[in-house]
Amino acid sequence: MRKESAIEVIDGAHDGAVGGSAVLAPHPEAAPAELPWGREYLTVSPDHFRVEYVINPFMDPATQPDPERTREQWHGLVAALRGAGARVDVLRQRLDSPDMVYAMNLGLPVTRADGERHLLASHMRYPQRRNETASAVVWAADRGRTTSYVGRDGVGAHFEAGDAFAFGGVLVTGFGPRTEEAALPLVAADLDARVLGVRITHPGMYHLDLGFCPLDERRAMVCPAAFDDASARALLDLVPDPLVLSEEEALTFCANSVVVGKRVLMPACPPRVRAQLEEWGFEVVLVDVSEFHKGGGSIRCLTNPLDVQVGRDLDLVPGGDVVLPA
Ligand code: ARG
Repeated sequence: MRKESAIEVIDGAHDGAVGGSAVLAPHPEAAPAELPWGREYLTVSPDHFRVEYVINPFMDPATQPDPERTREQWHGLVAALRGAGARVDVLRQRLDSPDMVYAMNLGLPVTRADGERHLLASHMRYPQRRNETASAVVWAADRGRTTSYVGRDGVGAHFEAGDAFAFGGVLVTGFGPRTEEAALPLVAADLDARVLGVRITHPGMYHLDLGFCPLDERRAMVCPAAFDDASARALLDLVPDPLVLSEEEALTFCANSVVVGKRVLMPACPPRVRAQLEEWGFEVVLVDVSEFHKGGGSIRCLTNPLDVQVGRDLDLVPGGDVVLPA
């Protein structure tokens, strides 16, 4: 699906042209601006990664990750991030938190409009992951970040940061399987931002980052099958040039990718998706993180962008507000 993009024709070459005979060469449509965020990530070293319980359809304790391949793949991912020019911060994994490798869910790091560096901590839906928050808060304090909560220790609304990504000035926030609708106004108020809530209905795409991936300022991968109809429509309206994924394509984890400028680090890339990305000028780099698929997460889940700014990536909306597709 491709929508008409607004092309501003700059006609200044005619100014002062004698006889008006200047001919403008057909100029290619200017490429959309790269994402300003996505150059700095938090990751967790997979010291104790195991599949010990089942909280998503991919997990099966009978299929454990191989520790050596796990380490190799994680080092490969960190090298690929650094190779793309990104900075990488590494947190050690807690012994009691086998899923903590999925750093995306530790919380939502943002820089507020006044420059305060902040972490909105996750409040995990499943108690098995709740100890991770304690480490995230210590990490934040070490890095000079303030912390806040929309709920904690099983009390209050659930919010998992893998459900929340900036795009088009709003924080697109998935809710349903993990994040609760009740969290949305609290997130919006905490960040002074506009939240677009999208209802996730697909059990295999239980976080937003499995069916949605911002690519640049006009483009994102969107898998409509992850959402209810109104939410899918709202996403397709938000993204001027969506790369629409089929359910089958999204279940390769291809939307669980990380974009550093023009480079897309992907766990898998179906041919049609690759063709579109390359036509748009992206460089696809495949990074094998298959051991981590056993826990139901991939490249995006293993990383957490640290450089999202209110006032740049998210419009400043004092007090916040929530838009829910009707
Ligand atoms: N086993 C983890 C869970 O179910 C996987 C998390 C994947 N992370 C993500 N951002 N999608 O919570």
